[in-house]
Amino acid sequence: MMEFDDIETVAVLGAGSMGHGIAEVAALSGFEVNLRDVKEEFVQSGYDDIEWSLEKLAEKERITDDAADDALARVTPYVDVEAAVGDADVVIEAVPEKMEIKKEVFADVEEHLPEEAIIATNTSSLSITELSEVTERPERFCGMHFFNPPVRMQLVEVISGGHTAKETLEVAEELAEAFDRTPVRVHKDSPGFIVNRILVPLMNEACWMVSDKSATMREIDSATKFDMGLPMGAFELGDQVGNDVTYHVLEYMHEVLGEAYEPAPYLEEVVEDERYGKKTGEGFYDYDGDGPDIPTDAGTDEIEHRLVAVMANEVGTLVAEDVSTPADIDEAVMLGAGFPDGPAKIADEVGLEALVETLEELGEETGHPRFEVSEGLREAAAAGGFHGGDDDDGVEFTNIEIRRPGDMVGQIVLDREARMNTITPDLLDEFDEALDLLETDDEIRSVLVTGTGDRAFSAGADVTSMASSAEPLEAIELSRHGQRVFGRLEKLGMPVVAGIDGFALGGGAADPHRRLRPRQGDRLHRRPVRPRDDVRLRRRQ
Ligand code: CAA
Repeated sequence: MMEFDDIETVAVLGAGSMGHGIAEVAALSGFEVNLRDVKEEFVQSGYDDIEWSLEKLAEKERITDDAADDALARVTPYVDVEAAVGDADVVIEAVPEKMEIKKEVFADVEEHLPEEAIIATNTSSLSITELSEVTERPERFCGMHFFNPPVRMQLVEVISGGHTAKETLEVAEELAEAFDRTPVRVHKDSPGFIVNRILVPLMNEACWMVSDKSATMREIDSATKFDMGLPMGAFELGDQVGNDVTYHVLEYMHEVLGEAYEPAPYLEEVVEDERYGKKTGEGFYDYDGDGPDIPTDAGTDEIEHRLVAVMANEVGTLVAEDVSTPADIDEAVMLGAGFPDGPAKIADEVGLEALVETLEELGEETGHPRFEVSEGLREAAAAGGFHGGDDDDGVEFTNIEIRRPGDMVGQIVLDREARMNTITPDLLDEFDEALDLLETDDEIRSVLVTGTGDRAFSAGADVTSMASSAEPLEAIELSRHGQRVFGRLEKLGMPVVAGIDGFALGGGAADPHRRLRPRQGDRLHRRPVRPRDDVRLRRRQ
């Protein structure tokens, strides 16, 4: 069995939007990368994309010029499979999202790949078990699902197939960590795993709304981007992911999971026209000019409510089918898609009873099975929320974490990694409450404040949530609220130390006692997302 320390060469099969991004991530982390596609022009185009992206990252000072040059030098393009995988320790496959194509590729790879090497597929939805069975190493086969664009998205879903050995999953997780990503383990090989089971139905529902004329594309994108505060509008995201990819994932879910996942006519139309998105220059939007022109104030509560209801229904199904828990779903979607809050939390905030009603009404109106309320959602609604009543050990925090790293030290971790630990009113409320808890705890004699992830201590106020608030007064209020809460640090009757690693901007630079300069290139070791066993106080919703 291949050990993580033995991995030097990673072969990436497929140089498209995911393949080139995964190759880039691996090269940036110091691995030798063999990038392979079926035609010279495809590999060249993937190589050019890596070059473009590395330049962009350097231009934005996310990496140095030298790091960009070194990474590019580690990538070798290939068309010949034998040459590409003959010396590989790990293969990551990112060819088109079709079962038959992937199976053919694996059969081919198996012939030339060293026996102990591991194969990982970047499939977005297909069965890992079924794919593994075309190889002679199903125990050394697993899923490693990256998010688009891989260089920017933090999450890697590490998926176990029916035959995958525990050691293979451990190596895949270590590799994801070495790639500077956060792995989350998915135990159940079910279509779409975790994140796509939320995102793809969300994008499909956006298309259904256009198909049935209940809203326009720009109204929906305005609601998703500026009211819900997602990093991109639903259609903008579709164009980023690739409409062909979304469509293939949906087709597969439709086939395996049933009629609820029927692709919307508007999505079919766009795919038929080969408007695949950003990568082809045209998708829902046209990318010749400045790209999507999304108005800031065209969203409605109705749109938001319908989309949240559909996501909540999916969360319910994932929980009822034991694929994941609300807390892990929230964390995965925040890291994989940059959501400001997880879908379970967003749904809880709107109120599950109201969302059940919305689904029932839409079900009656349209007669479509996708609005059938899932058992998991009904149960959660009866329990007072996905996060309601699931913990009995006190208080639940979702934006921060409290730890006790040593005797007498209380640590507050800003825990919004996907949003660079930016400050929101909810985070401030939790911070305030954490200070209450630590101040009144006799065993705590000092406070340490840190941020999760290796990019930022805190990048200041969350400007997306500010932009989405219609009232400028809310921004002023957030600033006052911040001054009051952080001001408490100065008055606390014990020493406060900030462990700053990465950006500390705006409100995130508010001095606890003294300001430390962020050190560049000083990286924290990232832990996989798992239930934490250290002390964690939780706030009941
Ligand atoms: N490499 C380098 N730079 C890139 C890039 C890449 N691959 N892609 C985009 N950029 C650049 C852009 O060109 C832009 O540069 P300019 O400002 O010069 O035009 C810049 O990055 C934008 O970055 P910013 O940080 O300024 O903007 P942002 O804060 O909006 O971040 C984003 C961009 C990280 C992509 C953010 O919009 C985001 O998180 N979007 C959500 C994406 C998402 O949900 N992905 C998951 C999709 S699901 C999936 O992939 C799974 C599947 O199987 C279908």
